[in-house]
Amino acid sequence: MEDTDLTIVTGAGSGIGRAVVERLAAAGRRVLGADVNLDAARETAEHAGPVVTAAHVDVRDEESVVTMVESAARLGRIEALVNVAGIGSITNAPDTTLEVWDRVMAVNSTGTFLCCKHVIPHLRRRGGGAIVNIASVAGLVGMRKRAAYCASKGAVVALTRSMALDHAPDGIRINAVCPGTVDTPWVRRLLDEAGETLEGLRARQPLGRLATADEVAAAVMWLLGADAAFATGSALVLDGGWTAA
Ligand SMILES: NC(=O)c1ccc[n+]([C@@H]2O[C@H](COP(=O)([O-])OP(=O)(O)OC[C@H]3O[C@@H](n4cnc5c(N)ncnc54)[C@H](O)[C@@H]3O)[C@@H](O)[C@H]2O)c1
Repeated sequence: MEDTDLTIVTGAGSGIGRAVVERLAAAGRRVLGADVNLDAARETAEHAGPVVTAAHVDVRDEESVVTMVESAARLGRIEALVNVAGIGSITNAPDTTLEVWDRVMAVNSTGTFLCCKHVIPHLRRRGGGAIVNIASVAGLVGMRKRAAYCASKGAVVALTRSMALDHAPDGIRINAVCPGTVDTPWVRRLLDEAGETLEGLRARQPLGRLATADEVAAAVMWLLGADAAFATGSALVLDGGWTAA
């Protein structure tokens, strides 16, 4: 194991995860960028530069998470984890099949839990570190036709708060970021399914536009850094005013 500190980012192949990897790399930090889509993770790594190593992970699968964490520990001393991997679903409860419910909970809630479970012992051994979980405003307020998604993100917020209390004495700070609508490949894919347009989405935002993935990455960087030394257990809302209404 090397002495270099290293940050693990899941969901590194697209959108917010890719933006987080790029910010970390630009700050000169060593990164393991992992995704279920290994080709996409490799593209991110190629673009972000030599401080980034790509890896495969399916965050739903404990063995896969353990393998990812072991690979990271061989590359450096794990100092931080950013849980970005996530999926959506656009249905109300009666229209949500059990299969869709299970899949959304497995990636968003169980995946975040598994990555934290296996990284926290490394952070403890290091004498401290930071975790940022990408939740959503959907974990704080209700959204129509997002039953499984809201439930899965509410779990991420609650898990973040609980773990923050457990691991504050270990010097581990654990926070969530709750974005509103972010312009990523995912949102563009879901527009059709939701019967919405980009213009309609923009018009509904108090600031009149969507967030960029890089703006979310900037919030993640703040929460990971020394300037946020007193922040733990928080759910940082970054929603252009959406939940202020
Ligand atoms: N885009 C938004 O408006 C928005 C708003 C709030 C929260 N979020 C959250 O931000 C996160 C990233 O969203 P995005 O918009 O960048 O989406 P995206 O689809 O562009 O990227 C998500 C990435 O996660 C990966 N992934 C999916 N399932 C995985 C699994 N089982 N294991 C490992 N990786 C997996 C995908 O391959 C993809 O690369 C998600 O958790 C999402 O819920 C997004």
